[in-house]
Amino acid sequence: MAPTPFIIVAIDGGAASGKSSSARTLSERFHLLHVDTGSYYRALTAEMLRRGVPANDPAAVQAALTDIKLGTRVEGRSARMEIGGRVAGDEIRSREVNDHVSHFAAIPALRNALLSYQRGQAEVARQHSFRGLVMEGRDIGSVIFPDANFRFFLHADQNERARRRASEGQQDSIAERDRLDSSRKTSPLACPPGATSIDTTHQTLVEVVELMATAIAATPGFA
Ligand code: C5P
Repeated sequence: MAPTPFIIVAIDGGAASGKSSSARTLSERFHLLHVDTGSYYRALTAEMLRRGVPANDPAAVQAALTDIKLGTRVEGRSARMEIGGRVAGDEIRSREVNDHVSHFAAIPALRNALLSYQRGQAEVARQHSFRGLVMEGRDIGSVIFPDANFRFFLHADQNERARRRASEGQQDSIAERDRLDSSRKTSPLACPPGATSIDTTHQTLVEVVELMATAIAATPGFA
């Protein structure tokens, strides 16, 4: 019998486009390791803020990065970033981090530090006997895993996304983050050629996930 394939699912999109909910549901359904790369950028941002490193000083950011030791902890089906052996808490969803994260994420040295770390999550998934990886972010299907088995790009009307964030009780300038994320020089937010683009404005989470799950379940030996 042929061995069960290991699959990589990339989900990209703007803030509050439905990535996290979809990725979490797919990870449960297909036993995939769930990797929320936004939480990695957030954790590094919180660490830079803690150290007093400003986002407008790329050299200082680069210097700080050489001193930061990254690890991974798997909790349930989710991968969590460890910085110096510690997993960041709720502070990564704070207003301060929301306001700074896109500025740090535009720094090439910081993105570069995360590039091999994020690719290495596939090995973490294999070591923990997952059937694959579902990774969400902004540049997963374009830069991190351009050869992923599935690449989805979610988008939604801006008012609807603001409503979703507010209903989570979060103060988040999603329009400003999207503007910064889409206009940066390194790995901007964009639907890469060949990815499946899904408008989630008028679709329920169940409908969006069903669309993705149907495609994934058609993988030979995977359903
Ligand atoms: O997904 P989330 O909204 O938590 O991401 C926070 C920020 O991290 C984004 O606004 C973006 O600046 C950055 N990010 C990124 N590339 C990724 C994931 C997140 O630049 N792959």
